[in-house]
Amino acid sequence: MSDEALSPVLEARNISRHFGAVVALADASLSLRPREVVGLVGDNGAGKSTLLKILSGIVTPSGGDIVIDGKPVVLKRAQDAMDAGIETVYQDLALVDTMSAYQNVYLGREELSKNPLARLFNLVDDRRMRERAREVLDMLKVKIPSINVSVKGMSGGQRQCLAIARALLWGRRIVILDEPTAALGVRETGQVLEVIRDLRQHDVSVIIVSHNMQQLMSVADRITVMRLGRSIATRTVKDTEVSEIVGLITGAIPGDSPEARAAEVAA
Ligand SMILES: Nc1ncnc2c1ncn2[C@@H]1O[C@H](COP(=O)(O)OP(=O)(O)OP(=O)(O)O)[C@@H](O)[C@H]1O
Ligand SMILES: [Mg+2]
Repeated sequence: MSDEALSPVLEARNISRHFGAVVALADASLSLRPREVVGLVGDNGAGKSTLLKILSGIVTPSGGDIVIDGKPVVLKRAQDAMDAGIETVYQDLALVDTMSAYQNVYLGREELSKNPLARLFNLVDDRRMRERAREVLDMLKVKIPSINVSVKGMSGGQRQCLAIARALLWGRRIVILDEPTAALGVRETGQVLEVIRDLRQHDVSVIIVSHNMQQLMSVADRITVMRLGRSIATRTVKDTEVSEIVGLITGAIPGDSPEARAAEVAA
């Protein structure tokens, strides 16, 4: 469970973003506490992916603030978000098909060899990489046939788990997942959800977008609902049910007042 007494690791405050005349985000706020999984829901076009892209440094906000550990940050590019401890697992995953599982876990951050000569030639320490990749995958109980085979033949679930493992290996504290199980079968979805639940034990907080309410409620501590570019309500999973969340998404149930939302985010 999340630690409600602790201050948020990440806050998005009154974020807006327009693309020309299109208002993708009008006023979106959310907070993420240590070891918490927050689900972000809303109808198609509600602004979920845009908010995640802003938190990943892919899209810059038109207005609002992003606060990490109580300090305002400006995320101008993806690297800024990574430096701030945020790892995003994209739907297409950005894994390289022809590389092996462990090479993918290390992608872009190959461990430099301890050997000065090898270091000179910028060679990577293959054995060390393999060991660490194995450690992280074991830690998350990710089941893959071998870390040495190319990821080409791997299932969507295995690939998704690998991408999440990568976030852990790089020491990120916040993992952002945009519809991670959208293309997966039942068993694979179960495996990915299990890995997401496990991240808590490694001090990682998660923001996850999904259209599958049952699934989301089985993994999230709180759910923030977006409607037409606004975050309109946040509910604690144990105090709500699917029908209320669906009502908030469709508008059958009105959202909270701006005062209530501000109080929630400040809490
Ligand atoms: N680069 C862009 N240029 C123009 N409009 C955009 C751009 N990105 C997003 N939008 C618009 O902003 C709105 C929000 O889009 P967004 O992708 O954030 O929605 P979403 O909640 O993720 O929807 P879905 O559930 O379908 O993935 C939509 O109207 C979308 O068309
Ligand atoms: Mg989206």
